[in-house]
Amino acid sequence: MTDYPTLILNDDRHIPQLGFGTYKIDEADAPDAVKTAIETGYWLIDTAAVYENEAGVGKGIGEWSDIFLQTKIWNESQGFDRTKKAFDKCLARLGREHVDMLLIHWPCPDKDLFVETWKAFIDLRKEGRAKSIGVSNFREQDLKRLVDETGVVPALNQIELHPSFQQRDLRKLHSEMGIVTQSWSPLGQGEAMDRGPIKEIADEIGQPASAVVIRWHLQCGNVPIPKSTKRDHIEANFKALDFELTDAQMKRIDDLDDAEGRMGPDPADFS
Ligand SMILES: NC(=O)c1ccc[n+]([C@@H]2O[C@H](COP(=O)([O-])OP(=O)(O)OC[C@H]3O[C@@H](n4cnc5c(N)ncnc54)[C@H](OP(=O)(O)O)[C@@H]3O)[C@@H](O)[C@H]2O)c1
Repeated sequence: MTDYPTLILNDDRHIPQLGFGTYKIDEADAPDAVKTAIETGYWLIDTAAVYENEAGVGKGIGEWSDIFLQTKIWNESQGFDRTKKAFDKCLARLGREHVDMLLIHWPCPDKDLFVETWKAFIDLRKEGRAKSIGVSNFREQDLKRLVDETGVVPALNQIELHPSFQQRDLRKLHSEMGIVTQSWSPLGQGEAMDRGPIKEIADEIGQPASAVVIRWHLQCGNVPIPKSTKRDHIEANFKALDFELTDAQMKRIDDLDDAEGRMGPDPADFS
């Protein structure tokens, strides 16, 4: 991973800091999209059982066995035994003996099963089939409960995070707890590039607006996982590794934060 930015997880493993998302990429399109991303240079691929593309993602990764692969256990599979069975199916679809990162997709507080699910994750990590374990869409109270009841701190929390919804309080908590922040919808589902200051910075430095957004995530210390099915977009987003933003440019993007900017579901009531 020469010159590729990485972060150290709380289990001492390294995670590549720029990843590739695959939500809404069909099973049939996934092999090509993933192959294009890996050929471009991405080292981390994110999928989930509910994306129904794990077999295509596994095919796209092919023989690149050192790619950092993440998947997620869906809400209906929460619970100790169900999680283990669901994970067996994930590995079978992916065509892999292990994943690098396994995530609980949503806390689903109304189901009240995420602690049991986490206990299954702890077993899967001991077995070496999930090299690292983490969560997604967990709030402060969910993270604290996991740690209080099991003593095991998630390595990572994958949360909605983009210039219009920056989740500063949760990021601060993550850094206090030793949890890596991974940004989902890092491009604001394609809308972040239309924000005035981002277009202006892109013009000033002669880089794609999408790369400016991804660069902002990297310099915040987040792990962004932009999704695209188009080669030119996949390559434009990867240019984020080629330049740096000044403190003043970072501040102009910081100033776009909006407490009402959430685009996806609220973890408090999503199941
Ligand atoms: N844990 C969770 O609950 C959760 C929820 C949502 C997403 N995720 C993960 O996060 C990943 C990324 O999030 P996302 O897919 O919602 O949104 P995103 O990455 O912020 O944006 C994707 C959208 O931006 C467009 N796009 C990408 N690069 C572009 C470029 N250079 N120029 C113009 N448009 C561009 C894509 O269209 P084209 O394909 O046409 O390029 C697509 O419409 C997902 O794929 C998934 O892996 C996780």
